[in-house]
Amino acid sequence: MEISVIGTGYVGLVTGVCFAELGNQVTCIDNDVKKISALKKMIIPIYEPGLEELVKNNVKKKRLKFNTSIKDGIKDSKVVFIAVGTPSRPNGEADLTYVENVARGIAKHLSGYKLIVEKSTVPVETGKWIEHTIKINNKKKVPFDVASNPEFLREGSAISDFMHPDRIVIGVQSKRAEGLLTELYRPLKAPIVVTDINSAELIKHASNSFLATKISFINAVSQVCELVGADISKVAEGMGMDKRIGRQFLDAGIGFGGSCFPKDVDAFIHLSEKSGYDFSLLREVRRVNERQKGYFVKLIEKKLWILKDKTIGILGLAFKPGTDDMRNAPAIDIIKMLQQEGARIKAFDPQAMEKAKEFLTEIKFCKDAYEVARDSDCLVILTDWNEFKEIDFKRIKKLIGQPIIFDGRNMYNRAAIEKLGFQYFCIGRK
Ligand code: UDX
Repeated sequence: MEISVIGTGYVGLVTGVCFAELGNQVTCIDNDVKKISALKKMIIPIYEPGLEELVKNNVKKKRLKFNTSIKDGIKDSKVVFIAVGTPSRPNGEADLTYVENVARGIAKHLSGYKLIVEKSTVPVETGKWIEHTIKINNKKKVPFDVASNPEFLREGSAISDFMHPDRIVIGVQSKRAEGLLTELYRPLKAPIVVTDINSAELIKHASNSFLATKISFINAVSQVCELVGADISKVAEGMGMDKRIGRQFLDAGIGFGGSCFPKDVDAFIHLSEKSGYDFSLLREVRRVNERQKGYFVKLIEKKLWILKDKTIGILGLAFKPGTDDMRNAPAIDIIKMLQQEGARIKAFDPQAMEKAKEFLTEIKFCKDAYEVARDSDCLVILTDWNEFKEIDFKRIKKLIGQPIIFDGRNMYNRAAIEKLGFQYFCIGRK
């Protein structure tokens, strides 16, 4: 099928490339000229495992093209996905300016029937607004449909999430739209939930907010564990074995970050409020998430006493492993709090150091964990990168100023670390 995807961020690029891999003719469109000319040279703007190979493979097979113009890019497409950014406004509401602009652009260049699919995470009723916008700008009255097809991709495993989804959600208002989307997704052999557009939009909000709630819940329990001397990893294990609860997203730590959860929780709170419901539960989810970072900094302060002029070695900056994404990374707030207390920061992250420079200043970036440890007053783990499990702590012990580890992601085995002569502090664990 000929399709186009407008917006080449995480969602847009992964969606476009994966649809090309499934054998469709895909045009990825973005008004960022630099990005598109880089993509044409196969320079990928983000770090996502497997993405570069897929881009190269599909460009070579002539299934994937890039364009800066909506007019040219959508010309031959049956289905047009909108995957542009929906940043948060200061009040938490999603800013839909880009979505509206793109809808207007599509309307002006409609030639034959097209299905316009919103893929960005958007508030309920955005589908209706897209339809309205296209209608009033579609002077030639070309037939079209609007649908919602929310994405559930996780950064770091986006391609595999796309290729092996738990479910595909499509919100449609016509059989024709349902048929097109079902056909497009058929090769994935995944269950498809077909519903109206509003419900599809809500599924996305509710799913992400529920997962965020799960994380805040376990983080709150971790605080109680600290107070009563229980072990959060055992509590999570015991809870998770109940199939109704499930073990995933029960890892206590320094809280959730990233481009989705914080923004989506805020947007859901806002849209519920606007619709007349006070979603106070989600406000608490957000509050627990914020407090978790403060608790961790207090723990460091309690054990190191004065932070002024102490050197704190940070391992991990990205909001989670497997990505270079620093958006809403807990590391940003934690490092800023430590700096405010006068601490000096050394840091290493396998992927995110370049991007971290946009969010943080006065950090000595290091080439590895050993350079971070050298003469530092402690090591602080903020992202649970797999490679941090391979660290030679015997070597770290010889380099570090004070053998103290604060593990914000509960990565290590306490007994093994303490045996090497470290003091080990983590979150809610014995
Ligand atoms: C999320 C959703 O999982 C995905 O379905 C949606 O489409 C986009 O948002 P992503 O933001 O890539 O994906 O990251 P995810 O793996 O869900 O993790 C989000 C945050 O929660 C990370 O900061 C992670 O460290 C944290 N987290 C996750 C925990 O603190 N504990 C957990 O148990 C799980």
